[in-house]
Amino acid sequence: MKFLYCGCLLLILIPSNVYADSCNIEVKVGDNMNFVPTALEVSATACKTVTINLTHTGTFPRNAMGHNWVLSTTENAQATAQDGWSAGLENQYLKSGDPRVIASTKIIGGGEGDSVSFNLSDLKVGGDYTFFCSFVGHFAMMQGKFTIIE
Ligand code: CO
Repeated sequence: MKFLYCGCLLLILIPSNVYADSCNIEVKVGDNMNFVPTALEVSATACKTVTINLTHTGTFPRNAMGHNWVLSTTENAQATAQDGWSAGLENQYLKSGDPRVIASTKIIGGGEGDSVSFNLSDLKVGGDYTFFCSFVGHFAMMQGKFTIIE
């Protein structure tokens, strides 16, 4: 009897910083100002609804290094973030009822998490969308493209 041994190693290469092709997306934040992954892509064919599961893997509390995940058009992103700064932590650093906000989580601190779900059918394939953190001063560092493909 012969034993066949296969020493093959199956390597699946995934770009380290981009693209979660799924309807249920894990996004990590921590004690510095960046999102992992730094850009997201979803398929409107595959996903009616997208859920973002935001997790803060750091240790700083929400009032020191809090983060949220907010989606708007790219055109509205910076103004939406900056208008939110004066709303304060108790309002998740977003203007109350801001119609520019497509989806948003709460501001979370170390060890915390929050999720948000939204309908892709309300958005445009190929539209120009940006996700960002609206914590005071984080917008410049914490923003990424949200791409919707067919
Ligand atoms: Co932040």
